[in-house]
Amino acid sequence: MFKSLFSASFGAVVTFAVLAVPAYAADDIETKVQVCGSCHGQNGVPENPATTPIIWGQQGNFLFKELHDYHSGARDNPIMSPIAKGFSLQDLRQIADYFAAKSWPAQQAANPAPSAPEESVMCRACHQQNFEGGAPAPRLAGLSDEYLLGAMNNFADGKRTNNLDMPGFMKSLTESQREAIAHYLSAL
Ligand code: HEC
Ligand code: HEC
Repeated sequence: MFKSLFSASFGAVVTFAVLAVPAYAADDIETKVQVCGSCHGQNGVPENPATTPIIWGQQGNFLFKELHDYHSGARDNPIMSPIAKGFSLQDLRQIADYFAAKSWPAQQAANPAPSAPEESVMCRACHQQNFEGGAPAPRLAGLSDEYLLGAMNNFADGKRTNNLDMPGFMKSLTESQREAIAHYLSAL
């Protein structure tokens, strides 16, 4: 009698724990990402796309690397650095996976399709054929003209140093070539 009562209540505790853990984890990630939507947008479109990049549907490894870099100080930004420092690396991996699994927000394709500046051809080796991003490098297609140019200039001016290749590539371009590429990529 005692034994069966014990195992029944033990069984109930185990069942409760098994059911409760995934539900708790799901609530937990929603709580962690709540703050992100106020700038990166509730539906993937940033509130101010000129300064804030799209993170919905961006490459997961890249998202994690950027959050890691803000956390460690390898990439510095007065808004993102304190936010990333408030999370553990484990949380940041979970957050990166969460946003990578979302869909990139749809946008109206430019009509007529813009023609590719000659200097953008070499970028495809890493950023992929349609600039959709992949394992070696992030998606660039559809980020805003201003954000892209700002990021390219930050690499060229040595303000963003969290990658070994990008600063050299950006320095080899003139400011007007960078502008033309940013303009082209934002219209994809
Ligand atoms: C107060 C506004 C704000 C909030 C809140 C915010 N971000 Fe950001 N985020 C920005 C801005 C602005 C940038 C661009 C910073 C830069 O140029 O380095 C950025 C950049 C990023 C990047 C780099 C992406 C890229 O393409 O280079 C990632 C990843 C990111 N944010 C994720 C997050 C996550 C995840 C959260 C929530 C935990 C969050 N952000 C909350 C404003 C915000
Ligand atoms: C050898 C591979 C490689 C090539 C070639 C390359 N990139 Fe990159 N690019 C990267 C990687 C990797 C990153 C992510 C760096 C980091 O960790 O922040 C990046 C980041 C960027 C970013 C910042 C994106 C963001 O959301 O913050 C821009 C803009 C960019 N590249 C533009 C270009 C352009 C334009 C070209 C061609 C002129 C180019 N890249 C060529 C690998 C490459």
